[in-house]
Amino acid sequence: MSNNIESVLKEDRVFEPPTAFVEQATLKPADVDALYKAAADDHQGFWADQAREHITWHTPFEQVLDDSDAPFFKWFADGQLNVSYNCLDRHLESRGDKIAIIFEGDDGGVEHISYRELHARVCRFANALKTQGLGKGDRVVIYLPNVPQAAVAMLACARIGAIHSVVFGGFSAISLRDRIDDASARMLITADGNYRGGKLIPLKETADKALSEGCESIEKVIVLKRADCNANITEGRDMWWSDAVDGQPDQCEPEWVDAEHPLFILYTSGSTGKPKGIQHSSGGYLLGAICTCRWVFDLGDDDVFWCTADVGWVTGHTYITYGPTACGATQVMFEGVPTYPEPDRFWQMVDQHQVSIFYTAPTAIRALMKQGDEYPQRHALDSLKVLGTVGEPINPEAWMWYRRMIGHERCPIIDTWWQTETGAHMITPIASYTPTKPGSATRALPGIAADILDESGAPVTDAHQGGVLVMTKPWPYMLRTIWNDPERYKDTYFGMYDAHTYVAGDSAQRDEQGNFRILGRIDDVVNVAGHRLGTMEVESALVAHEAVAEAAVVSRPHEVKGEAIVAFVILKTDGGSEKLASELRDWVSEQLGAIAKPDEIRFADGLPKTRSGKIMRRLLRTVARGDEVTQDVSTLENPQIIDQLQARGA
Ligand code: WT7
Repeated sequence: MSNNIESVLKEDRVFEPPTAFVEQATLKPADVDALYKAAADDHQGFWADQAREHITWHTPFEQVLDDSDAPFFKWFADGQLNVSYNCLDRHLESRGDKIAIIFEGDDGGVEHISYRELHARVCRFANALKTQGLGKGDRVVIYLPNVPQAAVAMLACARIGAIHSVVFGGFSAISLRDRIDDASARMLITADGNYRGGKLIPLKETADKALSEGCESIEKVIVLKRADCNANITEGRDMWWSDAVDGQPDQCEPEWVDAEHPLFILYTSGSTGKPKGIQHSSGGYLLGAICTCRWVFDLGDDDVFWCTADVGWVTGHTYITYGPTACGATQVMFEGVPTYPEPDRFWQMVDQHQVSIFYTAPTAIRALMKQGDEYPQRHALDSLKVLGTVGEPINPEAWMWYRRMIGHERCPIIDTWWQTETGAHMITPIASYTPTKPGSATRALPGIAADILDESGAPVTDAHQGGVLVMTKPWPYMLRTIWNDPERYKDTYFGMYDAHTYVAGDSAQRDEQGNFRILGRIDDVVNVAGHRLGTMEVESALVAHEAVAEAAVVSRPHEVKGEAIVAFVILKTDGGSEKLASELRDWVSEQLGAIAKPDEIRFADGLPKTRSGKIMRRLLRTVARGDEVTQDVSTLENPQIIDQLQARGA
């Protein structure tokens, strides 16, 4: 697999961190040198020092790393803490009146929430959860829009030791139900609905559909009124958020938990049809959120931080709910979309709220770039200091546009590589330190041991050769297991080499200076508009349709979304039509959520298979891209099928 990974891109432009930025930065180059050195000298000692410096412990830890049961690693296992205490209470004395969240709704309404107010809201909601009988270890599914109440609900779970699992509001009823069932959640927290880009998203209606079948573990549903859209309320099971918190005290003693106590489960796609419940810890995860905010973005007390992600993704967990609050920072949270009411919404908000650190996805940058330069040119954008990207590879053209049009050549561009599983940044520039290069995530952070291996497990040293991206040492903020499925955790992440070598699922290469370039996934996972999707999930959805006998899903490059989904479909009986294609696209959207809707459906009589019956996906990718087939097809069971697949795409 890896011997075919070869990159053709040559990129020679290098940008040093701007002098003016370095001069005002909290973290100076000498500090970063010291971090790298300390981490290289003593991996565990380094992380122990960081954990003592950045976390307020209820019971200090003695143990650092326990790797006796690798790959089930434990960090700071005898220490006790509460994550919500670290995000809220410890700031009350020094910055209680500081604004924690500047919230802007889809309709432009703005709300400022101080740390004192956020603390009170979290305590009241935590008390409401307790009143409903929830406690330590219980699972709570959160299906909310990107509004402050989502962060409040997450922090309230953390406060009482309950484990949250946030499901992105764009997921379908079936996806929501599968996640509720897998986690055996006792409670669902949702909203009646909300507006995004002026369009009503009927969350409660979708939630009711999910709850109408399965979801037996759900006892109570708390419903936030956000859209006022006459949502159905089931007596005895459902209650309004406002009623749940009514009369609750604004103090709530935190539940002190072990550092290894699960903070949350977050489902993500893998290479089988079933999503994986990625389980994160309390202590190690929090440490990653704090260190990366401070190092990578140079997040300080005077900054206004804005991560445009939704709390339903890991980016929103780490860089909205937990990281900025644990650092006592001010952040912007936004319910809407970048192009509504106009394609300058982001830039207008940057000026209005004086955002200094802006973090978004390449797909958003590409989409806004297409709208034309006039939109950013309407705004001063002079509060910006650092610009970040995450979620997918950023093409050098978009990188340069971001630097020029948004950063005015004054802001470092931070291409951050990480995953739901890694918890926080892994390979990324440090704003005040690392020379950047378009299309490169540059170097691993201090304390992160990234490498590139070939199939035999030997490090790849040739700068033009790609290989398998791995981490050769555990790090505090890594996932701990897959919920309910420790075997799958072992196989997926540690099955290729050994129990100490984490396999990320991406391929990468390194240039002569040691900068990493991420090449893409090596498993059957695709990345559409920064959202991770398993091709198997889409295939299972397709074959669940009565007309479909077999399906194979691949991706092809897409100008804005990065990748687009192409599905090859074999019908039970003849009769592939435009109408059926459109019905199948809607069907997938209904099964999995709109993000998984295929861009193209191609009907065929068969799929290219090897004599052992394996679908030749590589070949399908070539066909989907419209490229010439140069692969050896002599081992195919049915070589004539290729002509047919190509002809049907024309
Ligand atoms: C996959 C992880 C990290 C939070 C959002 C996505 C791809 C992520 C980059 C980047 C190239 C990237 C990888 C990775 N990816 N960031 N900067 N450059 N690729 O989290 O859904 O867990 O997806 O996204 O393929 O494995 P996720």
